[in-house]
Amino acid sequence: MVEKKIMLTGFRPTGKLHLGHLHGNIVNMVKYQHNYDNYFFLVDWHALSTEYQNPLNIKNNLIECAIDLLALGIDPGITHLYRQSDIAEIPELTLYLSMITPLSWLERCPTYKEQVKELKTKDISTLGFLSYPVLMAADILIINADIVPVGEDQLPHLELTREIARRFNGLYGDYFKEPKELLSKSTRVVGTDGRKMSKSYGNAIFLSDDYKTIKTKIRQMITDPSRIKITDPGHPEICNVFSFYKIYLKNKTDEIENRCRDGRIGCIKCKDEIAGVIYDSLKEFQEKRKILESDTGYVRNVLSAGKDYVRNVSSATIKIVREKLGIE
Ligand code: TRP
Repeated sequence: MVEKKIMLTGFRPTGKLHLGHLHGNIVNMVKYQHNYDNYFFLVDWHALSTEYQNPLNIKNNLIECAIDLLALGIDPGITHLYRQSDIAEIPELTLYLSMITPLSWLERCPTYKEQVKELKTKDISTLGFLSYPVLMAADILIINADIVPVGEDQLPHLELTREIARRFNGLYGDYFKEPKELLSKSTRVVGTDGRKMSKSYGNAIFLSDDYKTIKTKIRQMITDPSRIKITDPGHPEICNVFSFYKIYLKNKTDEIENRCRDGRIGCIKCKDEIAGVIYDSLKEFQEKRKILESDTGYVRNVLSAGKDYVRNVSSATIKIVREKLGIE
């Protein structure tokens, strides 16, 4: 039997999940989990690099986030779901990798430069934040993953992971694979104000929102400003609501486009319709979520089984790395 390739990804447990998360790496993970040997973990140490002033938020979000992932279809029978901070071998590998990672690689990382500029409200001029990509490289290399589903923003980190792996292999002999990204195909999900959907922008539609809430949020969205009367011809290409149609009713976009261009439907009706479609797509998730919420013991057991399995894999990696470094 050919061994399955390893797919791995991490997720920041920083709050309630919204549609932007869903159409990022989660969708790919759920869709492809039958094809690979899968590792999916909640990166509470990574979250700490920006949330260190309120660490308890991470703790509270962790189980909630695990519930979300299970309700979305991550199957613990085929995907190891675990918490980053349960794997003590990750920081040990981070330490070894940090010895061989030039500071300049981290300082020139575009995500680093951007966040230092953007996250003005938080002091992230810390060693931990600068070395965020080294921790991420250790997450991936400790499992020797082949495929890493990520959003576009994470590509520089994956490139750095490959560079670090190459450097390690060059210094101590081939061991680490160079992981490849699996980019999510869906275009970025816009929030209700037309910017990228993000909890911090206050423009998100959450997976837990009920129909009324989704309807109210979509009703607030700006469509085509030149449409005053229903019969005015619309321009779907500039309409934020249409971007949801493109995600949710892919096969019907021609029809939706035409009825807008021909002025055959008003924006309010069009908005309520897509609100219904979005809500229907979340119903099964919301029902599953309710069941899991009342059985957090089960969720904890899943994480605990994930931890036992992944620690075995990780300690085997660390053993080899130690041998290569002469630390036995
Ligand atoms: N940095 C990723 C993010 O912010 C999360 C992450 C941490 C990750 N470790 C990872 C993703 C390893 C893929 C593989 O979204």
